[in-house]
Amino acid sequence: MEHETIIVLDFGGLYEQLIARQVRANNIYCEVLPFDTPINTLMAKQPKGFIFTEKPIAATDGVDSLAGEKINQGLLELGIPVLGISAKSLSQFNINEALEPIGQPGGLISAVKQKNIYLADINPEDIAAFHGNELLEHFLYNICGLNGDWLMSDFAEGMVESLKQKVGSKKAICALSGGVDSTVAAVMVHKAIGNNLTCIFVDHGLMRLNEGDEVMGIFDKFGLNTVRVNAQDRFLNKLKGVSNPEEKRKIIGEEFIRVFEEEAKKIGGVDYLVQGTIYPDIIESGTKNSGLVKSHHNVGGLPDVIDFKEIIEPLRDLFKDEVRKVGLTLGIDEDLVYRQPFPGPGLAVRSLGELTKEKLDILRQADFIYRDEIKKAKLDRVIWQYFAVLTGLKSVGVKSGERTYSYTIALRAVTSVDAMTATWYPIPFETLDSISKRIVNECPQVNRVVYDITSKPPATIEWE
Ligand code: XMP
Repeated sequence: MEHETIIVLDFGGLYEQLIARQVRANNIYCEVLPFDTPINTLMAKQPKGFIFTEKPIAATDGVDSLAGEKINQGLLELGIPVLGISAKSLSQFNINEALEPIGQPGGLISAVKQKNIYLADINPEDIAAFHGNELLEHFLYNICGLNGDWLMSDFAEGMVESLKQKVGSKKAICALSGGVDSTVAAVMVHKAIGNNLTCIFVDHGLMRLNEGDEVMGIFDKFGLNTVRVNAQDRFLNKLKGVSNPEEKRKIIGEEFIRVFEEEAKKIGGVDYLVQGTIYPDIIESGTKNSGLVKSHHNVGGLPDVIDFKEIIEPLRDLFKDEVRKVGLTLGIDEDLVYRQPFPGPGLAVRSLGELTKEKLDILRQADFIYRDEIKKAKLDRVIWQYFAVLTGLKSVGVKSGERTYSYTIALRAVTSVDAMTATWYPIPFETLDSISKRIVNECPQVNRVVYDITSKPPATIEWE
């Protein structure tokens, strides 16, 4: 599938993904590549324009991330339009000509026409609102002369067709978690190859209330051939006596792979493994080198240990909001498509310290009440992620005139764009009040509810 392409060249800034998504929101296909990608590789993609992104001024600490010597001068001689973002760009091009304001009242964008280089002076805080911006539209549609041929309905149809050609009558397998990405990937592959796709749903017992059954209901609705593995006891046994968060994560990740492996062997003769990898995962692993904060568990670890001829990643070119659009195009319910993120290790990272079935059941109940009240308050699409945490802390209380010594539940709610940073969300007091009252009334083992008012950084979104 050929599409008009814009390339965002990443010079080490913070906003390359955000900008690429905003280009995509204008129906233009866009890829992010490191600043030192060889010209041949870039040209093979037949780009219609480049966008250079650099660190916003506040984050540069005097370091010139878009240093002149880093830019391959050849790139500037191709005659392909270049948009450099942020005021610092101005000093990088050895441009002596006077810059003429174009496109935007107030001189927000300036251009050196003979070289087809456009320099945009944008504050980092304005970048989030960039996609509806005349400046970007002007660059894409007028300067690069694009038509806007990147539409999610076409993408879904084209992908189903090419999967049909590729996989034919061979067998494929997929690990389903009930999350948006793996579900959309599976439904898409199912549309292409029907029952030659087998999905494996590992229920590790760390899901929310009724979640396992709900997730199976969705797979049934689409007629996905799904094997449910009830592995609750197996996971709890492995986790007995373990309270270190990283150790808990590692055990769950490894056990997940073991269970999946066993089931895959039972099916046998599988050529393809389907994964719900999305574009930010590819960018992160290709251009960034960040330190480990937490060892994330998802099915990304599978290929090393299981024998497949090939991996199929139908969503590898898509950002999350595009995956959602494709999901809707495929007929997946809005409730699932707009599901809040849920971590692979599930409630294990929300019940602090050693896990027991009793603790998990208390947390499930409190978390259910919290989500129910948030939905009633019509905040479920407003807050990016919200969940209850069983702190493991016990404190003294009083109920019906009697002393109690019971658990403390914490409420977490954050807004975020990409989970790298997050801001705590101010739930209205009345809603907090009804959540708290219901939790202490309906969960006998809880006598105290607290509200987490920390952003990320310095806290992370999950507590473990
Ligand atoms: P933190 O806690 O690191 O979380 O601020 C950032 C986002 O990632 C989710 N998360 C995970 N997702 N596997 C996942 O697929 C994991 O192991 C995992 N751990 C955290 C978390 O819910 C938040 O949205």
